[in-house]
Amino acid sequence: MRAPTLRSVTVLGSTGSVGTQALDVIAANPDRFRVAGLAAGGGRADLLARQAAESGAEVVAVADPAAVPALREALAAHGASPEVLAGADGVAEVAGRPCDTVLNAITGALGLTSTLVALDAGRMLALANKESLIVGGPLVKRLARPGQLVPVDSEHSALQQCLWASGPRGHDPGAVKRLVVTASGGPFRGRTRAEMTGVTPEMALAHPTWSMGPVITINSATLVNKGLEVIEAHLLFDLGFDRIEVVVHPQSIIHSMVEYIDGSTIAQASPPDMRLPIALALGHPERVPAATPPVDWTRAHTWTFEPLDDAAFPAVALARHVGSAGGTAPAVYNAANEVCVEAFVKGGLPFLGIVDTVAKVVEEHQVTPAGSVEEVLAADAWARARAAELTAGQSR
Ligand SMILES: NC(=O)c1ccc[n+]([C@@H]2O[C@H](COP(=O)([O-])OP(=O)(O)OC[C@H]3O[C@@H](n4cnc5c(N)ncnc54)[C@H](OP(=O)(O)O)[C@@H]3O)[C@@H](O)[C@H]2O)c1
Repeated sequence: MRAPTLRSVTVLGSTGSVGTQALDVIAANPDRFRVAGLAAGGGRADLLARQAAESGAEVVAVADPAAVPALREALAAHGASPEVLAGADGVAEVAGRPCDTVLNAITGALGLTSTLVALDAGRMLALANKESLIVGGPLVKRLARPGQLVPVDSEHSALQQCLWASGPRGHDPGAVKRLVVTASGGPFRGRTRAEMTGVTPEMALAHPTWSMGPVITINSATLVNKGLEVIEAHLLFDLGFDRIEVVVHPQSIIHSMVEYIDGSTIAQASPPDMRLPIALALGHPERVPAATPPVDWTRAHTWTFEPLDDAAFPAVALARHVGSAGGTAPAVYNAANEVCVEAFVKGGLPFLGIVDTVAKVVEEHQVTPAGSVEEVLAADAWARARAAELTAGQSR
């Protein structure tokens, strides 16, 4: 077997759920990967300093300049002395510094700048921050060369793997009938809308199969995350929304499927462990050996599938609506949701109010083409302000 090429990787959002798992993958494969740079918000300075010391990162950035003194102190304690950058500009600078691959694992729309900088600098972009693709769809697609952007989301990683199976002569788009995106259904699967009235953040944060950061976990409970993923699939694989299905699969073993024109369906199966799609994105197009333990085929398994209840969880249908409208509509859906999730977590909005408010903001928005970063950011800012107005004075 050919020796793997050593790739330098910059990890943005290194202290989060995806970021820490990415550093695990990198540390377990020193013949394949080394760390070039790290960036985080600044809330976990000691962890970031330890990561810098253990990985030998040359540059570290924190978005919050107030975190710099704590970071410098922690770096000294860990015996590390990388270059330290601060603020949103510092994070963007790290995203553009020389390396082979940038992993963007920042949460939320504020990851857009780093996505654009990394693509513009010609880096391979391993994209966990789906929000940047949803918010800046046309801008990101215009910048990305074919094959430059590799998905980290387990569903899109699965879809990509299933698409590799389209034919013995390589990818054949004409052979694809539809994409089938799986959803665990979240902690409230099977409940009616009325049965979700009293949901608390603690209940919404208890995901049945995945351990993830707080925003994506709440988004999984409302199914907004699945809505974002449907738009992400549309943008990544260029299929119309009428050819992207969602099916609920509570065990989270089948991460998505592709149905072909001849009636064949190819599925990707592995235990719910983000280290597999992270490793595949970092090593792309090569597979990283033993990235995750495989499904144990010596045991009995029961895997079930059920349709999505659109009445109880309207977020996916709303995402199809904004995705079809295009332009600034997906950015508005995402921005309003980020405000509503924060309000819900702080006790300022009922659980059902999240998607209800997003729908109101989306309805009021005048869609424009999203032709520039300024236009997208203006739509994002408008949606945040409108969602804040609509949620003001509410409580859980
Ligand atoms: N978790 C998963 O399993 C999973 C799966 C699929 C996709 N994703 C996607 O991956 C992304 C990250 O999710 P996560 O669950 O890993 O989130 P998370 O655990 O909340 O971590 C977010 C990371 O972003 C950093 N950050 C916050 N603001 C920043 C800023 N302004 N500049 C730079 N870094 C900043 C945080 O730093 P601090 O620690 O300093 O706050 C932290 O390192 C999201 O887009 C999510 O939808 C996650």
